Amino acid sequence: MAIIIKTPEQIEKMRIAGRLAADVLDMITPKVREGISTGELNEICHDYMVNVQGTVPAPLHYGAQADRPGFPSSICTSLNEVVCHGIPSDSKKLKKGDILNIDVTVIKDGYHGDTSAMFCIGEVEEYKQRLVNVTRECLYLGIAQVRPGARLGDIGAAISKHAHNNHYSVVEDFCGHGIGEGFHEDPQVLHTGLAGTGELLKEGMTFTIEPMINLGKRGTRIKKDGWTAVTRDGRLSAQWEHTLVVTPEGCEILTLRNGETTPQLP
Ligand code: MF3
Ligand code: CO
Ligand code: CO
Repeated sequence: MAIIIKTPEQIEKMRIAGRLAADVLDMITPKVREGISTGELNEICHDYMVNVQGTVPAPLHYGAQADRPGFPSSICTSLNEVVCHGIPSDSKKLKKGDILNIDVTVIKDGYHGDTSAMFCIGEVEEYKQRLVNVTRECLYLGIAQVRPGARLGDIGAAISKHAHNNHYSVVEDFCGHGIGEGFHEDPQVLHTGLAGTGELLKEGMTFTIEPMINLGKRGTRIKKDGWTAVTRDGRLSAQWEHTLVVTPEGCEILTLRNGETTPQLP
């Protein structure tokens, strides 16, 4: 497969899909509190996407293979040691001290917008908040590399440097991806790598950056449900995700949330 460079008309559709994905996170934010279940969060997001936005929740029934069913829900909810692709459940109620990733992907007018954010439930211990904050900095350091003429390896190098400086590890079993009419297009956007190597970035490319950063070791395993990825060592994992388009000057974040500001970067 090859990387699809988007036309201005396609980019405008990606902008709309991206904003709608971000709007779902904004909508759900006040509801992400102690006592609510991830199943309830899924239901609220599903109704909002389908009935308010007129979007299609891309995860629902996505990715069926011989050895696993399609994803059963409309969002991914990845709690604590869950790295990604957590399945919402009515029996998983949020507790004080939990850290939760909510990953939203909508389809509007044939184009995808994909974004995720971390939520801390109640007061969380400082080491958890630090993991969440550093992971967001990793995302933004990756984004800061994106411009025509840069290479994919520049993104992974910037992310892994910051993670390792903070004594965290970077998950290598999952990566960012091209996105457009397809949910997961070329290229694969690794969150580790060597600066100056890999695919050359060009204006009109659209892809996600979505680093998963672990408190302990980088290894993951998939649970028996065929989807839920957890850390092998059972320690915490955090993730943030944006969808971007490469512009002449750098990049535009297509999934910015209302009032979202860039973190102070080292
Ligand atoms: N949204 C995830 C990503 O960032 C993919 C979820 S696939 C699903 O690529 F099937 F688990 F929803
Ligand atoms: Co993604
Ligand atoms: Co996602």
